[in-house]
Amino acid sequence: MRTSITGNETVNQQLFLKRYPQGVAGPDDFEVRESAIGQPGQGELLIQAHYLSVDAALRLIMRDSDEFLFRVQPGDLVHGSIAGQVVESNHPNYHAGDFVTGSLGVQSYAISDGTGLEKCDVTEVPLSAWLGGFGVSGLTAYFALIEECKPQPGQTVVINGAAGAVGSMAGQIAKLAGARTIGITSSQAKCDWLTNELGFDEAINYHEGNLYEQLKVAAPERIDVIFDNVGGDILDESLRLIAMRGVVLLCGSTSQYPAETMQGPRNYIWLGTMRARLQGFVVFDYVDRYAQARQRMAQWIRAGLLKTPEYLIDGNVADFPAAFRQLYLGDNRGKMLVRLPPAR
Ligand SMILES: NC(=O)c1ccc[n+]([C@@H]2O[C@H](COP(=O)([O-])OP(=O)(O)OC[C@H]3O[C@@H](n4cnc5c(N)ncnc54)[C@H](OP(=O)(O)O)[C@@H]3O)[C@@H](O)[C@H]2O)c1
Repeated sequence: MRTSITGNETVNQQLFLKRYPQGVAGPDDFEVRESAIGQPGQGELLIQAHYLSVDAALRLIMRDSDEFLFRVQPGDLVHGSIAGQVVESNHPNYHAGDFVTGSLGVQSYAISDGTGLEKCDVTEVPLSAWLGGFGVSGLTAYFALIEECKPQPGQTVVINGAAGAVGSMAGQIAKLAGARTIGITSSQAKCDWLTNELGFDEAINYHEGNLYEQLKVAAPERIDVIFDNVGGDILDESLRLIAMRGVVLLCGSTSQYPAETMQGPRNYIWLGTMRARLQGFVVFDYVDRYAQARQRMAQWIRAGLLKTPEYLIDGNVADFPAAFRQLYLGDNRGKMLVRLPPAR
């Protein structure tokens, strides 16, 4: 057993998938195992996790299908990103005490050979933000909007999943681009948060009233950009209002990830009539430009123009499954993270 950098004797807690989930995953689908913390070999480093990233897309890859690039099968370590601190290093580029982030699985300690690892400068933003607004969520919002949608001042941008990790960043960046920004989310409290805290022009609760009628009122000039995080019926109602030569950015389809059979868009006919574009997107295409985007985002953060909202669950690896379920069904706003003891 090793003494952790926080001074506590501890073991490595790891989360494994027990069975393929039905519907939204829950604690019974996972299993926590404890083992001795590994010893880094030559060219490797040992990292203690401070934060576990809770990502909606995990549900998409926990299915009995080889259609997707990644797959988590029963018995596998659950796929996920962590942010933490180097405890011990035999790697020339990393030293004990460095803050890092990487896709190293849901566990409290990880050994890495440095592949895919990023060093985190925590003087600009806190470590947690490197998994959220300053990490993949923020970069997704930035590149999807700025490079793929290119919203113009005065145009109307509708973002669904607006209170989530990507959506909350996308709304703020759309506002910085001068667009009129409308968010769609699941409760009045989340709507109030979007307009009062993040500066969205309007927010619509999709559980309340008729979504299409509410969108028609909020976007009388039709919608130039639909930033789609959730797909399903919410995307469908928005498609009916796409503007001439509008863009539908397919960022994610959270509503469909737990479904046995996924539902594609029904109202696609409007894309033809309105000469609109349905645009696929994967943030990893922009990996060479992350540093450039972060420079610009850091300027906005410093100037008080951009927030990196996060929703922290204090716990340990065993609390990840409940947090994941809550991500789909709960009151979360911004990036959901499990905060582990060393960060508390
Ligand atoms: N293309 C890329 O490169 C890329 C990169 C990162 C993420 N993504 C995708 O972007 C999307 C958003 O990711 P995120 O990390 O920001 O997740 P998130 O929005 O923080 O969390 C998921 C949210 O989805 C909403 N949701 C869940 N079930 C729903 C349903 N049945 N109908 C409508 N909304 C539902 C909930 O918000 P409400 O309370 O508002 O319903 C929930 O909080 C995901 O689909 C993810 O896979 C894509």
